[in-house]
Amino acid sequence: MDVIRVKNADEGGKKAFEILKDGIANGADTFGLATGSTPETMYEYMVASDLDFSDKVSVNLDEYVGLDGSNEQSYRYFMDQHLFNQKPFKKTYVPNGKADDLDAECKRYDQIIADHPIDIQVLGIGQNGHIGFNEPGTSFDATTHVVELTESTVNANKRYFDKVEDVPTRALTMGIKSIMQSKKIILMAFGQAKAEAIKGMLEGEVTQDLPASVLQNHPDVVVIIDEEAASKL
Ligand code: GLP
Repeated sequence: MDVIRVKNADEGGKKAFEILKDGIANGADTFGLATGSTPETMYEYMVASDLDFSDKVSVNLDEYVGLDGSNEQSYRYFMDQHLFNQKPFKKTYVPNGKADDLDAECKRYDQIIADHPIDIQVLGIGQNGHIGFNEPGTSFDATTHVVELTESTVNANKRYFDKVEDVPTRALTMGIKSIMQSKKIILMAFGQAKAEAIKGMLEGEVTQDLPASVLQNHPDVVVIIDEEAASKL
């Protein structure tokens, strides 16, 4: 894995944006996108750029079960607010957290991923090393599936909700197998809370106990970390 150290999230977002821009210049047209606070600066650079995404496709990683796109805590809403409203894409996919039949929704999403192979996948990382919502213990062969969120993840994400009881306990997530099929992966991590997961991901063994460690097996990963996230290396 190629590790790039930056001063802060702003510099990291800029770096990620530049990699994305180079990718577009080299023909990338399908992007796997992530939510959370980590990629926000990259989206700011995308929005501020003169790049046109109207012929591009995005496939997001995950969505909370039970929230629809008008819910301000949904990942669809996040993506609309941070990127798609300002930079329209040809087509944007996010799992449907309100689907009546969640298994059918997982199959539908896998077909979307198969129809739109991802050129560049953007990732954040959970404090427990999760990617997307693939929590520790998830099989590396998993495709899109329904997840019971761990207490650690619910607690980490409660800052976006009025109270912890409002945080959905289930989510739909693209699987690790699909993430690994992306041609290129950019993983960003900023802040002390991510230091342990980053150490495990880069220096530990490849294990399902720390899902992001699977990225050691991918041929083209760029890891962008600030000083705090790098502090345990
Ligand atoms: C959530 C998302 C992940 C994200 C993680 C870290 O669990 N499903 O895709 O990487 O949170 O979020 P943050 O970037 O806010 O630290």
